[in-house]
Amino acid sequence: MTDLATVDYFSDHAISQDPYEYWDHMREQGPVFREPVHGVVAVTGYEETLAAFKDHDSFSAVNAIGGPFPPLPFEPEGDDITEQIEAHRHLFPIHEHMVVMDPPAHERARSLLSKLLTPRRLKENEEFMWRLVDDQLDQFIADGRCEFLSQYAKPFATSAIIDLLGVPEPDRPEFLAALGADRSARGRVGSLDGAPVGRDPLKYLDDKFAGYLADRRREPRDDVLSGMATARYPDGSIPDLTEVVKPATFLFAAGQETVTKLLSAAVQTLGDLPEYQQTLREHPDRIPAFIEESLRMHSPTKVDFRLVRKSTKLGGVALPAGTIVMLCLGAANRDPRKFPDPHEFRPDRKNVREHIAFGRGIHTCAGAPLARVEGRITIRRLLDRLRDIRIDADQHGPMRRRRYAYEPTFLLRGLTELHIEFTPSA
Ligand code: HEM
Repeated sequence: MTDLATVDYFSDHAISQDPYEYWDHMREQGPVFREPVHGVVAVTGYEETLAAFKDHDSFSAVNAIGGPFPPLPFEPEGDDITEQIEAHRHLFPIHEHMVVMDPPAHERARSLLSKLLTPRRLKENEEFMWRLVDDQLDQFIADGRCEFLSQYAKPFATSAIIDLLGVPEPDRPEFLAALGADRSARGRVGSLDGAPVGRDPLKYLDDKFAGYLADRRREPRDDVLSGMATARYPDGSIPDLTEVVKPATFLFAAGQETVTKLLSAAVQTLGDLPEYQQTLREHPDRIPAFIEESLRMHSPTKVDFRLVRKSTKLGGVALPAGTIVMLCLGAANRDPRKFPDPHEFRPDRKNVREHIAFGRGIHTCAGAPLARVEGRITIRRLLDRLRDIRIDADQHGPMRRRRYAYEPTFLLRGLTELHIEFTPSA
């Protein structure tokens, strides 16, 4: 029996499998509460999480991914540690990626990404996805069963980003294989959560994109990569090549595992609450709300971190500069003050779109529109092409006594496997 008052959130296996009771316990102590093991201040309230996201002056994103790991490379001094952060920034994990940058560097990095994620590019990418979904389903539909993550969600999420970035067709199979997302792969896709990946996917991607972009700078063509290679900062200056490579490669890190987790959570819900299958088939206009509620209930990014840069207060709690804050998105999205009956899946709740699974403020997820489209297209085509989607009881146990295993990480929430059975539509 886990003692919720003393458990180590970061390493306890049972909590990684089901964090919700722990988070409810934390919120009962207060929506902003210092957990006793690492001294990290856990924010489990919705309003308080939102306030921290929006206040980028008091809260630095420098430790957004690792939180208390590794420990701060300096001893915080005084009520404003901005200078200390900047002096040690290069020692923080993935410091070259925008998600851990603060203004003004963050603004410049994000401006390059907006050159890529144009409405036209997203539209073309969506058209690609409609073809992709059928191609993926064709691989296993006749079997009447599949392991959804390896046979659908991972290759789908990876292919969607490969296409978004305009990777040339002949190179795409190599990317899928290198990222562990080819159809035969059963392994993990590379991630930023510190879990072993067996190779360094970001290094692989950096090298590939550096090659593409250098090539297009020398000889621009009429393709997406050339658009990226020749992008300029808002002041007209030309970015160094690595400054263009980093936002491109980061899309894989940010958008593969998270989307895989969203898609598998949504399909798990279709299997466990089968009444939604017919409802959504008859009312496809309700699929977007179904996806939003999946994001709220099963927030793929469980937690996100900030470092208090200037001493401040949050939810009435004093936070000295140097405090490590853990914004528990999965908990905030189940805060009963915001979402009544928070543990119930209710896509008809009025504020269904107000979850903060994509964060908020200047770092709000740049790929949210893409993730939403991936979810909608997947559910729409799955329901068109498959009847009677069932969770495989041999693998996961019978209804109401299911056995699901989740990734044992403190950062992300998602199934390790999802075995489903179905009847192909006539
Ligand atoms: C369901 C899927 C996804 C979830 C739950 C998710 C969640 C998040 C969250 C919570 C943040 C904010 C991090 C912070 O404030 O510290 C974020 C940032 C980001 N996400 Fe996503 N994400 C998803 C999919 C994607 C996709 C598909 C892409 C792109 C292809 C993407 C690209 C990014 C980028 C570039 C950032 C950094 C933005 C910045 O720092 O300004 N994400 N995401």
